Amino acid sequence: MSYLKLSQKFSELINVSNGLKLSDIKFRSFRSNSIRTIMAWETEKEKYLNMKAEEKQKNCISLEKIPTWKRLCESEKLPKPIMKMENCPIDNKLNGILSEKISIFEGDITKLAIDAIVNAANSRLQGGGGVDGAIHRAAGSCLRLEGATLAPCNTGDSKITGGYQLPAKYVIQTVGPQLARPEELNKNHFQLLENCYRNSLELLVAKKLKTIAFPCISTGIYSFPNLPAAHTAAYQARKFLEKEHPNVDRIIFCLFLQTDKDIYKGVLQSYFPVSG
Ligand code: APR
Repeated sequence: MSYLKLSQKFSELINVSNGLKLSDIKFRSFRSNSIRTIMAWETEKEKYLNMKAEEKQKNCISLEKIPTWKRLCESEKLPKPIMKMENCPIDNKLNGILSEKISIFEGDITKLAIDAIVNAANSRLQGGGGVDGAIHRAAGSCLRLEGATLAPCNTGDSKITGGYQLPAKYVIQTVGPQLARPEELNKNHFQLLENCYRNSLELLVAKKLKTIAFPCISTGIYSFPNLPAAHTAAYQARKFLEKEHPNVDRIIFCLFLQTDKDIYKGVLQSYFPVSG
């Protein structure tokens, strides 16, 4: 961080500490701890963003190792297709192009060496269980420090942080809808989950990034039923790519549970048909 930026941060700090009416000794330790914290995540973020790919992406999965949906359909026996939900029109003229813009990856999202992985976070952006816990463990403590500067993140919103020790360059943090029980699913929950996918994709192209991976947002601790969540993810990706496919190289659906692997292989056949 430039000296100028540091001194700006420092003067903000003085104002904060003046407000706190700290004693001299307390102020000195408040100041040195805060400077270390400010310096920590910003310096770390720059360091990892500027790191050479081969240095950062040891024992991880590069995009080249992940077949496109088109290749997968040609090489693997797929389950019966699952029909699209009603009122989900698609432009079939784009099927050929778009079937090469998506992939399924079965495994741990923290291993993906791509531009951005999406985290199913909570509003505090301080980590948690599930994929949130896995991403924070792999990224290191600076992810939490940067998250604290962006929180709160409202349900359906997306915010971007560095990827730190992850092979991915960035983490797009999004907060999915939480259901008390799967049976409580309603229109508002669908709307909020659609926002998670759309806002994360819009952030990707706004930052001129090209590759992104989504976990199955809200289908774990937040109890969104897997099948309707897969329909939502597939259709939001389809609608987005119909508009933005020149600016996106790959959208990867990262599947961790067998349930989701079976569901997505059925659902994607109707939202991303390979033949014309
Ligand atoms: N890689 C990919 N997917 C994973 C991984 C991983 N390493 N670990 C878990 N998953 C899958 C789960 O199996 C599930 O399919 O991610 C999906 C989302 O589940 P959760 O992580 O439980 O996320 P969600 O249901 O959105 O609940 C979010 O849980 O961890 C807390 O802080 C988080 O409060 C937030 C809530």
